[in-house]
Amino acid sequence: MEIYVDSANLDDIKQGLAVGLCDGVTTNPTLIAKENVSMEKRIKDICAIVEGPVHAETLSLETDEIVKEGREYHSWSKNVVVKIPFCEAGLKAVKILSAENIPTNVTLIFSAAQALLAAKAGATYVCPFVGRLDDIGGDGMGVIDQIVDFLSNYPAVDTEVIVASIRTPDHVMTSASIGADIATVSSKVISQMAKHPLTDSGIEAFLQDAKKFDQAS
Ligand code: E4P
Repeated sequence: MEIYVDSANLDDIKQGLAVGLCDGVTTNPTLIAKENVSMEKRIKDICAIVEGPVHAETLSLETDEIVKEGREYHSWSKNVVVKIPFCEAGLKAVKILSAENIPTNVTLIFSAAQALLAAKAGATYVCPFVGRLDDIGGDGMGVIDQIVDFLSNYPAVDTEVIVASIRTPDHVMTSASIGADIATVSSKVISQMAKHPLTDSGIEAFLQDAKKFDQAS
């Protein structure tokens, strides 16, 4: 499974690159708004340091406008993926953009049925949100399971599943067990994945014992 950095913050992305956890980057308007910089500048900054796909989200709700935005984003760098919120106008835009070989990600997906429609429209990626579904008492990982399962019946369909809105290390590990293609993860959840109290106490004990070698030499 690939891991993307779910952030528009350059330090988060550089940290992900340094430890081999940045196969790509997902952004959204909320993440860009935290950075106090224009979207164009930040997406170009990210593309300058990341070789993998960099997902930039459209803001329009009309097909023509979404297509126009998508073409512009993709002109910034060939690795920009046009991220389009799920809606009928968006699906029409996906069909047009994919015919131009511009990669698309249909985002804000909350059901397997929505994922099927996005895949049929030609989406390169579908982006179901796990945490936001769990927040309202839904079964986020259950939806991922359904999507990965139905796509596996149609190997000729290239659509990849990006698990988004990840809140816990368990979401990441369950995504990998289910066989999702990609998990996009915040630096906070990566830190939680790395942390184990027995690792910390084990290092401390080894360092204490190493002092005894120093004294013996
Ligand atoms: C990524 O593509 C999504 O926009 C992001 O994971 C959403 O996460 P959130 O539900 O924590 O805002």
